[in-house]
Amino acid sequence: TGLTALDYGFVNTASTKSKITYIDGEQGILRYRGYPIDQVATNLNFLQTAYLLIHGEVPTQNEYENFEDKIRMHTLLHEDLKDFFSGFPRRAHPMPVLSAGVSALSTYYEDSLDPNNAEQVETSTYRLLAKLPVMAAYAHKKSIGQARLYPDNSLSYVENFLRLTFGNKAEPYVQNPVVVNALERLLILHADHEQNASTSTVRLVGSTDANMFASVSAGINALFGPLHGGANEAVLTMLGEIQASGESVSKYVERVKNKEDGVRLMGFGHRVYKNYDPRARLVKDTADEVLAALGVNDPLLGIAKELEGIALEDDYFKERKLYPNVDFYTGVIYKAMGFPTRMFTVLFALGRLPGWIAHWREMNLDPQTKIGRPQQLYIGEQQRNLPGFN
Ligand code: CMC
Repeated sequence: TGLTALDYGFVNTASTKSKITYIDGEQGILRYRGYPIDQVATNLNFLQTAYLLIHGEVPTQNEYENFEDKIRMHTLLHEDLKDFFSGFPRRAHPMPVLSAGVSALSTYYEDSLDPNNAEQVETSTYRLLAKLPVMAAYAHKKSIGQARLYPDNSLSYVENFLRLTFGNKAEPYVQNPVVVNALERLLILHADHEQNASTSTVRLVGSTDANMFASVSAGINALFGPLHGGANEAVLTMLGEIQASGESVSKYVERVKNKEDGVRLMGFGHRVYKNYDPRARLVKDTADEVLAALGVNDPLLGIAKELEGIALEDDYFKERKLYPNVDFYTGVIYKAMGFPTRMFTVLFALGRLPGWIAHWREMNLDPQTKIGRPQQLYIGEQQRNLPGFN
């Protein structure tokens, strides 16, 4: 009919207007609600950032306390929902466990599913923010065969998550402020990135008037893919392989440049950034701080820095405008903190949750939103007849 422009991967097509996040990939600029990412990451905590993304402004003290209190009220999971975690295989990857858990929230909390009821939308926002870290920690506990702990609401959001993940019933868990602050910062740096694949998924599912739990569950599944949230795992695997092979870093870079077996420098390059990813700088500083504070001397950090140094000076990477992205140094930090590799993408999901919620709500309130329904270019058979028809 001539109405359809073909745009694989939506490289040129805007699916919506948005006021939440601004990116200039050529210049390496990222702003949440107008505020530069470095200002947000060094001055706000994760829940203040969540409020900023969702409501558009930094909360006043009163607004913040109210927001935090509401989230605290919802940290407990229904006891039956806790049993749900027992049903998965012992080695279950925590990402599908998490998305299944979020999907199941629709069955336990039927009183907050109506997307056209502002109060219910508010309640599901609090429920999601409160319960996702608890479910993430339970998915981890399940995979290591340890008992689940109840949330301790005297702790902050991030402290609570760390205790639920690393604490156990036998010993008191001692929080380390350097780890807490670093995780706050990493979650902030992942909190939104405009219309990425998982956020677009959340918006698309939400455009059918599906509830927020269903939409976010779909977003978690989109994030699970190795081209999206899974890259942080892949970087650590790559660094480990370089270390184990005993191969020099420059030799590995040569293999990447020669595209041997399609090998890529994981954690490098980005669809949008053709300059240094502004988040990567902050992550790199955080890596130095955390490893120093924990007294960890991980040779993988040295390999990462050497790789970055060589790549930034090399014409192959310069010509293609390939720079470290947000995930280049995160894995080294998460490993030093004690997270198993399989939890890395879960940490991305915890960070991205406020962005998903902010976009779902923006989509839901926008009178111009229509059900998402892409066109296609049909390239199949023209009409033909089964035997016996003319
Ligand atoms: N190592 C080596 N060469 C690369 C890399 C890399 N990491 N990334 C791109 N190139 C080359 C690519 O081979 C191509 O070269 P040529 O023109 O000679 O064929 C050129 O650069 C352009 O690459 P592209 O694949 O067309 O770029 P894209 O925008 O489609 O891909 C990307 C972006 C992020 C998928 C890609 O850079 C990549 O695979 N990076 C490694 C994986 C990674 O770190 N992903 C995390 C993304 S950030 C977190 C998130 O958003 O989830």
